[in-house]
Amino acid sequence: MSGLNEKTVKVSVTGASGQIGYAILFRILNGDVFGKNVKVDLQLIDINIDKIQKALHGVALELEDCAFPLLNNLTLHSDPHTGFVDTEYCFLIGAKPRGPGMERKDLLKANGQIFKIQGVALNEKASRNVKVVVVGNPANTNAYIAMMCAPDLSKENFSAMMRLDHNRAVNQVASKLDSNVNRVSNICVWGNHSPTMVVDITNGLLNGSNNLKDLLDEEWVEGTLQPTVAKRGAKIIDQRGLSSAASAASAAIDHMHDWVNGTLWTTMGVPSQGEYGIPEDIISGFPVNCNGERYSIIQNLDISDALQKKISISIAELREEQENIKSLL
Ligand code: NAD
Ligand code: LMR
Repeated sequence: MSGLNEKTVKVSVTGASGQIGYAILFRILNGDVFGKNVKVDLQLIDINIDKIQKALHGVALELEDCAFPLLNNLTLHSDPHTGFVDTEYCFLIGAKPRGPGMERKDLLKANGQIFKIQGVALNEKASRNVKVVVVGNPANTNAYIAMMCAPDLSKENFSAMMRLDHNRAVNQVASKLDSNVNRVSNICVWGNHSPTMVVDITNGLLNGSNNLKDLLDEEWVEGTLQPTVAKRGAKIIDQRGLSSAASAASAAIDHMHDWVNGTLWTTMGVPSQGEYGIPEDIISGFPVNCNGERYSIIQNLDISDALQKKISISIAELREEQENIKSLL
């Protein structure tokens, strides 16, 4: 008796031989997204360069050597048109990371094209219910490119990863209150995955009932929490000489886990349908809940004028990024 049920999911991961790829694959096969009973057909994709494909084969050898009971089938690809066939869950990680002194939007020129090709391939090959999370930076606009290049899929299929920012904020708050992260809830990070992102604790709770607004002084929220989260990626690059990888992989796992299994409140980068005055199709961080199938943007939250002003700055930056890739679409 294997103890496993008969369910098998098809998962594609791009950039599979990169830093984040190396951190995420082992966790997917450990059951951290779909559970300990669901087998995985894993389709790994990286670029068609000998050295990279050789490295991808090396990763595959290691995955085999883990003897994961959940690994049902493993295939390696250099073409998303084969790597995305019937895919139900797709982690779009493969893209250039920034180096010191760069902003994430400086990567648009190098990375935007990747997400056009992948959007087209998803449109042709993926399951109509595919759940896509874009990790490659600048994640929000790359997700927008992929979404716009996949007109036969629903826009709801596409999301960008803002969960690392969310997790960073939750950790900072828990640590400030000398508490555990699982006691902090209802925080959101609005806008772009960039220094303009807006950390919002207005509805935040400790232990499910104590309002964070009563527990945290505004000076700390504005002067420490907000800049710490907004600049965390750059700080890690400065310290490590490389951009975040294991924490990014962990956030991508959390993002997909909650989308698939449900949650009462988290942050996802998802296309606006005009909520909170954010223009349609802008992929912004929003507070969402998930019912195990779909996410919904949490509605009717109070947004102060000051908060709205900050969100508008981040949205203006996303509009500018969209303008800059217009010729790609
Ligand atoms: P990395 O350089 O270690 O790996 C990137 C991998 O992607 C490489 O193996 C490369 O060959 C591959 N790749 C490039 N173009 C590809 C394509 N067209 N198809 C498939 N694979 C392709 O980089 P990394 O550290 O793993 O980071 C990957 C991306 O994730 C970067 O853009 C980085 O900035 C971003 N990132 C985002 C977040 C976030 O919170 N959204 C967090 C961390 C990193
Ligand atoms: C992060 O937030 O750590 C990533 O987006 C990597 C980066 O470039 O900051």
